[in-house]
Amino acid sequence: MRTQVGIVGAGPAGLLLGHLLHLRGIDSVIVENRGREYVTERVRAGVLEHGTTELLIQAGVGQRMLREGMRHSGVYLAFQGRRHRIDFEDLTGRWLTVYGQNEVVKDLISARYATGRPLCFDAEDVSVSRFDGEARPCIRFRSDGQEHELECDFIAGCDGFHGICRPSLRRESWRGYDCEYPFAWLGILANAAPSSDELVYSLHERGFALFSMRSSSVTRLYLQCASEESLDQWSDDRIWDELELRLSTLDGWRPNRGPILQKGVTGMRSFVAEPMRFGRLFLAGDAAHIVPPTGAKGLNLAAADVAVLSRALERHYRENRQDLLNEYSDRCLRRVWRAQRFSWWMTSMFHRTPGENEFEYKKQLAELQYVTSSRAAMTSLAENYTGLPLEVGL
Ligand code: APR
Ligand code: PHB
Repeated sequence: MRTQVGIVGAGPAGLLLGHLLHLRGIDSVIVENRGREYVTERVRAGVLEHGTTELLIQAGVGQRMLREGMRHSGVYLAFQGRRHRIDFEDLTGRWLTVYGQNEVVKDLISARYATGRPLCFDAEDVSVSRFDGEARPCIRFRSDGQEHELECDFIAGCDGFHGICRPSLRRESWRGYDCEYPFAWLGILANAAPSSDELVYSLHERGFALFSMRSSSVTRLYLQCASEESLDQWSDDRIWDELELRLSTLDGWRPNRGPILQKGVTGMRSFVAEPMRFGRLFLAGDAAHIVPPTGAKGLNLAAADVAVLSRALERHYRENRQDLLNEYSDRCLRRVWRAQRFSWWMTSMFHRTPGENEFEYKKQLAELQYVTSSRAAMTSLAENYTGLPLEVGL
């Protein structure tokens, strides 16, 4: 088997890359080690930056998102019993779309099948080799009991944080930067109509809570919990009581309760691998960097990486120019570090660190008071939250 670009992983990064390459007339094969259902049912974040929304529309995969996604022009920051609205559209002319990451993945899988280009689920023993020498890179895997050797011009490592591409690099060829946070998020999906039409980020004495949604009948909520929190300790009633305590405001606002459809604990860490290119292997998305979910940047960074990569590969194939491929890592990392800073800042502003003294809490309240009262500070938050413009369109 032979292809131009071998893509490891069918998450948002791999699938969107495959689609952008298709639009640019470049051939690819996507190899995923999980099943289609697992990939489409995995509950993840759901906030698309302005630029990500535009990219999906331009790429022709935004129709359902436009119909079913929710346009959000701002968010609320809540503390000391009050909600303060940050009006993104007024401050920056930009807005967000709330649409589940798994819905984006479903749309991209349908688009992939419509192109007739290969997408292989349930691949076993996936490995990558020969990407940093003269020989052609190769992806090996087993599917339906058969061994496959896929020869490629380039490999895109879009296989997430726990994938095999990054661990296949020579240890001395890259450096990792990371930061672990001493807390996690307990997230639920509930069959309850959202009681606010915008997200609410709340700092409470007992810790952070977030109100989000997926549709007019499904609410998504998160609570700061301990890193090693066990779900056994959390009955549905306890989760609702804690959410109500941390989110309710003095004007009587609180989340609506309803049957819990799904619950899980998400760890919080920041990680960046530098560089993101190794000869003919390019890392993209979570394979190269992860952010704590507080800034809602994970999926958006993945989209920004593959927008740059697909453009750089087009330049290579159409004009035989390597400049954009050579710049890939630096261009992506500039955006990644901006998003890291913002995600870290949002995380520090909203979470109670175990063992911290009251000075920290007072400082957080002062920061929130500033951010919700100064137009300059609100604009800074709004610019970062709605996202920097994408450098590359179609
Ligand atoms: N071989 C093939 N595929 C693999 C392998 C492997 N050895 N290991 C992992 N994968 C697959 C995973 O099963 C997953 O479907 O790679 C895919 C990676 O997808 P994501 O983890 O969703 O990462 P990415 O596409 O970069 O998207 C980033 O996902 O984790 C969220 O918050 C993050 O929203 C962000 C987005
Ligand atoms: C979500 O809706 O899942 C969500 C929203 C905002 C975040 C993180 C997750 O910061």
